[in-house]
Amino acid sequence: MPATGKFTMKDLRSARQSGQKVAMLTCYDFTTARLMEEAGVRTILVGDSASNVILGNATTLPIRLDFLIELTAAVRRGAPNALLIADMPFGSYQRSSAQGVKNVCRMVQLSGCDCVKLELTVRQTPLVSRLADGGVPVMVHLGLRPQTVSLLGGYRAQARTPHEIDQLVADAMVLEKAGAATILLEAVPPAAARAIIAATALPVIGCGAGPDCHGHVVVVHDCLGLTSNPPRFVPVLADMAGAYKNAFADYVHRVADGRYPAAQHVYEMAAGAADPSK
Ligand code: KIV
Repeated sequence: MPATGKFTMKDLRSARQSGQKVAMLTCYDFTTARLMEEAGVRTILVGDSASNVILGNATTLPIRLDFLIELTAAVRRGAPNALLIADMPFGSYQRSSAQGVKNVCRMVQLSGCDCVKLELTVRQTPLVSRLADGGVPVMVHLGLRPQTVSLLGGYRAQARTPHEIDQLVADAMVLEKAGAATILLEAVPPAAARAIIAATALPVIGCGAGPDCHGHVVVVHDCLGLTSNPPRFVPVLADMAGAYKNAFADYVHRVADGRYPAAQHVYEMAAGAADPSK
């Protein structure tokens, strides 16, 4: 895996071969993207989880394509060397392959992303083929697919029986054959991830899919301790909610008791200018 320079789809494929694990995080803004790149995060997903953590919606369904394009373009500016994966939101590719191709092209051209992620079933293989033929790397999101939450009746682990694992593996194989470049596998037991890894040659990024995946992705707000009920597979690495709240409370107190603004925070009059307020 290159330590510097642009991280590409080729590097992701090499990671599968070499066994070097890929650390992927979600990101939704320029500043955080810049910090991630400086910290050595080489792969970034602009997830439709922005619907939850940025817009405050209960599901990922309401977020719109244009909004995700703007966020992805901002992340691109912050992390020019990361492999940047853009989520295609609900409603932007379900109507037809033609609709999906048109909207994926919009996303690629306007955001500068390197790869698009779609929550797919085998019924959408024509879309995967058309995108792959056009040179667009597609990350297929399998396992728990949050855009189908209404059908599932809630967010719960998938592929927990041998039969369901067989079905998932069959789907993955069909989508690989259609031209998928990589798989994101969400909320499945490690046995399901192992079966997919054995049956396909694609790099598999897990999101609550156990240790065998070639890389792992989590929602950055969960990882930073900014959300109250993160899924159990998330490593909560910081208490940024506490850090933010302490800083906000400190600001409130400084303004209230007059410690802010202090002398160093004010602009001087021009040299020699009289103060008309005196
Ligand atoms: O939208 C998202 O954040 C995702 C997760 C699986 C990481 O798709």
